Amino acid sequence: MKLAVVEGDGIGKEVIPAAVEILDAFEMDIEKVPVELGYGKWERTGSAITDEDIETLKECDCVLFGAVTTPPDPNYKSVLLTIRKELDMYANIRPIRPLPSVKGIHERNDFNFIIVRENTEGLYSGIEEIGDEVSTTKRVITRKGAKRIADYACKLANNRMKKLTIVHKSNVMKSDKLFLDVCRETATDTGIVHRDELVDSFAYNLITSPWNYDVIVTTNLFGDILSDMSGALVGGLGLLPSANIGDKYAFFEPVHGSAPDIAGQNKANPLATILSLKMLLEWHGDIAEAAILEEAIDSALNMGICTPDLGGKYTTSEVGNIIAKYIRTRLE
Ligand code: NAD
Ligand code: IPM
Ligand code: MN
Repeated sequence: MKLAVVEGDGIGKEVIPAAVEILDAFEMDIEKVPVELGYGKWERTGSAITDEDIETLKECDCVLFGAVTTPPDPNYKSVLLTIRKELDMYANIRPIRPLPSVKGIHERNDFNFIIVRENTEGLYSGIEEIGDEVSTTKRVITRKGAKRIADYACKLANNRMKKLTIVHKSNVMKSDKLFLDVCRETATDTGIVHRDELVDSFAYNLITSPWNYDVIVTTNLFGDILSDMSGALVGGLGLLPSANIGDKYAFFEPVHGSAPDIAGQNKANPLATILSLKMLLEWHGDIAEAAILEEAIDSALNMGICTPDLGGKYTTSEVGNIIAKYIRTRLE
């Protein structure tokens, strides 16, 4: 495997080395290609990502990515959005699953759902007119875009509980009627039990009764917001992994950002990135390694080895060291 490794900015520079140490513990045949991207690179060179960087990412089998800082500067083009569009990674897969010994906001931990977020259009179209008096962003829903994310979600649901929730706001935004119709048709055609919910009441239902959901499909910005919100169910933003998937490329990253408030202190939780690495291993077919990694994470958590966001006293690098050591011992 040829793997592009992007640390990015802020805590990306701390969580990625921890995940890479763990990957190295498996001694797999992987060529790692470091790629510098992000706000730091923009400050240094005037560009956050170049055409050559995109070519390098495309030449690799997949990408492990930390986080980047995205300033609200109209002249700054988001690195992540550029990559998602250029590599046409239309599905953003965000599993929400409790981990042993970590409490979220509920006593119950019998839930396990996946947010399938459309990743290339909606309010992230990038079609904007910015003025002093009026600024607009065009929300784009296409049949093709809705169909491919609906297909992805239905395939996933078919391998799970065959239960799909379509989340939209078609009462107000008629563009969502197309999204809803295409998702409904696809679910009906593939024999998936489905229902739909308006995003506002859905947000309430999801946070109060997460055990009622399995696969959730939604548009770009709703998926972004609902996934961070769901972090509260499992114990924090430091625990949410994700995969960006297209027909040709795959890209794995924590859901969280560069966390400037804690960057440089070696206290960021590396588990979101380590769980993203686990998704990468599964995607690549390294099922045994993924299972050992899960065992190692569970073992660390059961021994109280975690960062301060989970109430622990361990540093980012210590958590990485200990999980890597568990894997090396396990493989001896
Ligand atoms: P954030 O996710 O970076 O941080 C939100 C809060 O969660 C902060 O208090 C932070 O300390 C905490 N947090 C996040 N990850 C953590 C971890 N692993 N361990 C412990 N605590 C953690 O969101 P933000 O503050 O809104 O955004 C900061 C920057 O990151 C912005 O420039 C934003 O554009 C960017 N961002 C990037 C990505 C990405 O690269 N994928 C995602 C989201 C935000
Ligand atoms: C995410 C992030 C990105 C998004 C930002 C940084 C562009 O919040 O991956 O969830 O909005 O998709
Ligand atoms: Mn987000």
